[in-house]
Amino acid sequence: MPTHRPQCIVALIAVICIAAFVSAASVRADPAVASASVEDRVRALLGRMTLEEKVGQLVQYSSRQDMTGPASSSSIAPQLGAGGVGSLLNIIGAAETRKWQRLAVESSRFHIPLLFGLDVVHGYRTIFPIPLATAASWDLARIEHAERIAATEAAAAGINWTFAPMVDIARDPRWGRIAEGAGEDPFLGSAIARARVRGFQGDGRFATTGTILACAKHFAAYGAVQAGRDYFTTDVSERTLREVYLPPFHAAVDAGVGTLMAAFNDLDGTPCTSNSFLLDRVLRREWGFHGFVVSDWAGIEELRAHGSAADLRDAARQALLAGLDMDMQSEAYGPHLAELVRSGAVPESRLDAAVSAILAAKFRLGLFDDPYRYCDEAREKTTLLRAEFLDAARDLARRSCVLLKNNGVLPLKTSGLTVALVGPLADAPFHQLGAWHGQGRKEDTVTVRAALEQMFPGEQLRYAPGCETRGEDTTGFAAARSAAAKADVIIAVLGEDADQSGEATSRTSLDLTGPQAALLREMRASGKPVILLLMTGRPLTIESAEPLADAILLAWHPGTMGGPAIADVLTGACNPSGHLPVTWPRSVGQIPIFYAHKASGRPLPRADEPDDRYFSHYIDAPNTPLYPFGFGLSYTTFAFDQLRLGAPALRPGGAPLTVTVRVRNTGTRAGEEVVQLYVHDRVGSVTRPVRELKGFQKIGLAAGEARDVEFQLTPADLAFWRADMTFGAEPGEFDVFVGGDSNASLSAQFLLETTPTALTSGLSTLPFNTPIPHLFKAAQGLR
Ligand code: NOJ
Repeated sequence: MPTHRPQCIVALIAVICIAAFVSAASVRADPAVASASVEDRVRALLGRMTLEEKVGQLVQYSSRQDMTGPASSSSIAPQLGAGGVGSLLNIIGAAETRKWQRLAVESSRFHIPLLFGLDVVHGYRTIFPIPLATAASWDLARIEHAERIAATEAAAAGINWTFAPMVDIARDPRWGRIAEGAGEDPFLGSAIARARVRGFQGDGRFATTGTILACAKHFAAYGAVQAGRDYFTTDVSERTLREVYLPPFHAAVDAGVGTLMAAFNDLDGTPCTSNSFLLDRVLRREWGFHGFVVSDWAGIEELRAHGSAADLRDAARQALLAGLDMDMQSEAYGPHLAELVRSGAVPESRLDAAVSAILAAKFRLGLFDDPYRYCDEAREKTTLLRAEFLDAARDLARRSCVLLKNNGVLPLKTSGLTVALVGPLADAPFHQLGAWHGQGRKEDTVTVRAALEQMFPGEQLRYAPGCETRGEDTTGFAAARSAAAKADVIIAVLGEDADQSGEATSRTSLDLTGPQAALLREMRASGKPVILLLMTGRPLTIESAEPLADAILLAWHPGTMGGPAIADVLTGACNPSGHLPVTWPRSVGQIPIFYAHKASGRPLPRADEPDDRYFSHYIDAPNTPLYPFGFGLSYTTFAFDQLRLGAPALRPGGAPLTVTVRVRNTGTRAGEEVVQLYVHDRVGSVTRPVRELKGFQKIGLAAGEARDVEFQLTPADLAFWRADMTFGAEPGEFDVFVGGDSNASLSAQFLLETTPTALTSGLSTLPFNTPIPHLFKAAQGLR
């Protein structure tokens, strides 16, 4: 290929020049080096590294703080000096990270800086509501802003890499980690994944220190673990994997996410840690991902327990070959990779690809130019818990609240009202932070009690917790009864404590734990109106509690500013606007229950047989959930009408189909509504869900105001993995539903057209295979 030769020579000269600059003295501030491309800088450095130094970049250790697994016995410091560590996790604070960074940069041959990883899941020091809660806001701009704040705080405290966003679709609330994601829906989950990645990484240039590297986790289908048991096995069809569990990861990759974390679970027999279908074929070859993949905690070592590797050496071999780049805490890559390469069991090119991706991330973060740019004690002091961060946390906590029931008792009037505040979570500064609350501190937290005492001073508020979230002690009931007797209204703050959801918190019952349900019954017996305020990390089964309450407000685990936010909503200073990102079951026996299910061949009793029982149902409970996906009330009401389609048919290659609906605020106060659009493909080459979310808009309307809301549908929105496993839409009839939840009844029909040629030439040759951007794009670049 003679025409390429001059370019090759130029590149070679550039690499040699850069290599000369990459001396033992410094890889840092030399302008000639700094102006070279990241790829050239990586290549130059890589070319000078020994096998052991390359392996070192793939090794990650924990400082032993905040561990979620067994302790490592390794002593990190000598390895750092030998260039044997690429990243540390769970080291916190500008001073501490600076200390370790100095050790790495000053004692190792090439002065390669470390990545400092941490689970900044819903805030670093200013704690936002848990991710499932913020998903309930359906407010992408505010979710993005919250992650930018989290990144800004973390970046000031030495952290340059967060193990977030968690983008696992979860349809089983027995699984405690449902708290960490965006709920059950791939469309909403993908939109939120993009927003969170943008929030953490900005435009991906890391030009300011308010952005850090993100990590989409856990790749993949971790949310589908059998029976909701954490760390358990997963077996879903490739179609379900691609249509339900993968889209948020694909969205994160499209948004430029720098890293992914492999999931703990196996998938159709292969652990995700060593799953080349996921890590190589889908992620690199189909989606064109150029970042790197880290294992989850001791994930490589766990290949032995899975029964897919006989020993640690083989586990390391399998993982690296499959496409797993960094070893979190298994001590598998460190001891074994160099020998595996030398023996030819693993090609050095595969090791080089992994090292290159990790070095590239360090260059992009600016760490070679200034290894301490994220460890600035002065910035740390002035950044954490800034007033505007706390305001944003309060704002998002208000918007995450979902009003599930209201017979008119809410909003509360503050003047002259006496309130009994009961329940173990009413004054629980630690528990309201929820799982994975980072460096959030209970001293910073404003509880519901503290906030309501401002609004209902002195005798107006009587607080009596009544009981704990666990155990059987009901001795506090007497005080709660007496507070209730003197009050006009009761607020019962019940639910889960922070340790009842998150990692390793699977439950077989989702009822209120301990004496909480009994406390609620006591409160009902007082005859006073009861407001049930739920703080929880997941849907709870409250079918028997529901009739005991006049109003139910779901506040989730609301974070540092949860108290004032909830007080704002209870008193009407803020009109609730959250909508459920996950279906609320009546009972555990209904799980998995989600709105986008398939129809079944017997969806209903036969019309001509009133006593027909041979249809898909339970004999002891309805099929329907207690609250559907997308549901949420407001202090005002909204009506939807005048659903209009721009055309009766959508033509591939033609204009998008416009769907317009008139939304009217029919109440007496201003409010916000989440306008949701669902589609249903009536007949497909494979069965299709009864409904699928394909659009949403959150709009504000003044009392009495009406507005047209417009959506656009294209064939890409109707695409799915067809019978022959190609991705595209199929011609035929579709229903479109628009409304305020997944039961929306306002509907219209349209046709997806095809050309006469395609109609006669069969499925696989239809002209409107609508490729997702990057799909089937070959891996390029360093890999
Ligand atoms: C295990 C968890 O599964 C993962 O989400 C987390 O990022 C790592 N531990 C590191 O703390």
